[in-house]
Amino acid sequence: MEDDYTTRLLTPETWDDFAVLVEANNGVWGGCWCMGFHPEGFGSSPSVGGNRAAKEAHVRAGTVHQVLVYAGDQCVGWCQFGSPAELPNIKNIKVYEKEAVDLPAWRIGCIFTGSKHRGRGVARAAVTAVLREIRAAGGGVVEAYPEQVEERAPQRGAYLHTGPESLFEEFGFERDRKIAKWRWVMRLAVTP
Ligand SMILES: CC(C)(COP(=O)(O)OP(=O)(O)OC[C@H]1O[C@@H](n2cnc3c(N)ncnc32)[C@H](O)[C@@H]1OP(=O)(O)O)[C@@H](O)C(=O)NCCC(=O)NCCS
Repeated sequence: MEDDYTTRLLTPETWDDFAVLVEANNGVWGGCWCMGFHPEGFGSSPSVGGNRAAKEAHVRAGTVHQVLVYAGDQCVGWCQFGSPAELPNIKNIKVYEKEAVDLPAWRIGCIFTGSKHRGRGVARAAVTAVLREIRAAGGGVVEAYPEQVEERAPQRGAYLHTGPESLFEEFGFERDRKIAKWRWVMRLAVTP
């Protein structure tokens, strides 16, 4: 199924494709425009329009790393990655910092598949592309912060905005430490 998808970076050229995906999904989480992990987060007075403008400004300035997944010419998925400086506002940051020994070179932040395209390998294609980009950029330790799904009641995809742990396990990520009841820091060393 993944062979049916192509991936591209989110750039000014692909901005409109991303915007169509987000708008078809109610702005994602009612209008976050996937801004939460970026340095400014949602700012002091968040609004849907403000989130959209802030995201577009990042894309035009080249200050974020994100991949888009396409089925044909339709953008159906998105995944964010970057250095800790690009993505400082991960969930459970206080607990994270308490036991942090060293920072990774890269983080994988939020991940999103259009609601009509879930369960068909879109997120898998997104993470595959992210790891390819990281390898091409020189590799290094990559962290993800997914939700545990095993030994737990089934979760709707809507709650898995940092991805399911099982997805990252597929790529060889291993648990480093727990930072919330169901959230783990997982790590993978990517060689160039
Ligand atoms: C979580 C999410 C990204 C998964 O995307 P997807 O494209 O449906 O995932 P895939 O089809 O690539 O699944 C890959 C693997 O992840 C795991 N997985 C995916 N969805 C899962 C779920 N709801 N529960 C448990 N595991 C799940 C499975 O291991 C799956 O492999 P399998 O199908 O062989 O069992 C998607 O449900 C989503 O976008 N949810 C909303 C998240 C959100 O709001 N993000 C906003 C960020 S600001």
